Amino acid sequence: MNRNGIVSDHPFRLPSYLEQSPAVAERFARIRQRPVILEVEALTRVFTTASAKHAALREVSFRVHRREFVCVIGPSGCGKSTLIRIIAGLESPTSGRVLLEGKPVTAPGSDRGMVFQGYTLFPWLTVKGNVMFGLRVAGKSDALAEREARQWIELVGLSKFENVYPHQLSGGMKQRVAIARALANSPRILIMDEPFGALDAQTRCQMQSHLLQIWRQVDVTVLFITHDLDEAIYLADRILVLGANPGHVEELIDVPVPRPRGPEQLLAPSFLATRQRLEALIHRSHAVEETVSLPDIRLTAVGDDVE
Ligand SMILES: Nc1ncnc2c1ncn2[C@@H]1O[C@H](COP(=O)(O)OP(=O)(O)OP(=O)(O)O)[C@@H](O)[C@H]1O
Ligand SMILES: [Mg+2]
Repeated sequence: MNRNGIVSDHPFRLPSYLEQSPAVAERFARIRQRPVILEVEALTRVFTTASAKHAALREVSFRVHRREFVCVIGPSGCGKSTLIRIIAGLESPTSGRVLLEGKPVTAPGSDRGMVFQGYTLFPWLTVKGNVMFGLRVAGKSDALAEREARQWIELVGLSKFENVYPHQLSGGMKQRVAIARALANSPRILIMDEPFGALDAQTRCQMQSHLLQIWRQVDVTVLFITHDLDEAIYLADRILVLGANPGHVEELIDVPVPRPRGPEQLLAPSFLATRQRLEALIHRSHAVEETVSLPDIRLTAVGDDVE
């Protein structure tokens, strides 16, 4: 196993710009001293359909430390959602296993909170009702559930909206409620599958900052899937880069951008260097995949060129 916690034969390479920053190196040393909360061991998932077998994941292994923020990126169809559905206990692996705080995951549990891209709030419940739902299911009295729900709603900045229904909220507000609802059950890990994918660019930036603030205030580890490289760099301590066909670990990289993060860092040398590194990794993984080539069919008059 290497220092990144990868239990596979991927070599660990310390990026040169990380070596140059003692403060960042010290932060990663601190992270690695924290207990391992999530262990994914040689996870393989093969889907069998009527006509064929399709390997969605092959031998995926990595570890996440307590209160780490790990983003997962990779091309569409490389198995990101399959990976986190297995971690969530919503799906079983063909082989391999997932351990959460040392215990094998076999089914969904309140130690994992989920937030998805689609808005999944109960439309017939108010904001408060949505956040109270899981607390009531966990057996808490109405009075206690209401008190706790109010604290989580306050944390996501929606106290003024506790009595409104989801259709009266913007997309960003709905996702803030979804985060409050997921955190209300005190999960050990918050699993997010492209939670800001449907939001406009400006709301998305605000949500990223909100999420970092919430993460600082709550004892929770975050596993966050995104297609957006800048989002991954802005949020993550480490980024798990998956390749496709079948889904496998390309690399798990340290993000050398100091915290606390702010929009000004989007142009910092460490940010841009990480982006370059991710692009190189993704292109490398694309190069070995089957690419779809479009037929050369012309539907405009000859000479009517746009380039
Ligand atoms: N229930 C299923 N039955 C058969 N094949 C499946 C099933 N679920 C996923 N797959 C296949 O497994 C592969 C990985 O799918 P998955 O949804 O995990 O990818 P993804 O990385 O999340 O993609 P995207 O970025 O588009 O969300 C895909 O080829 C998909 O078609
Ligand atoms: Mg997906």
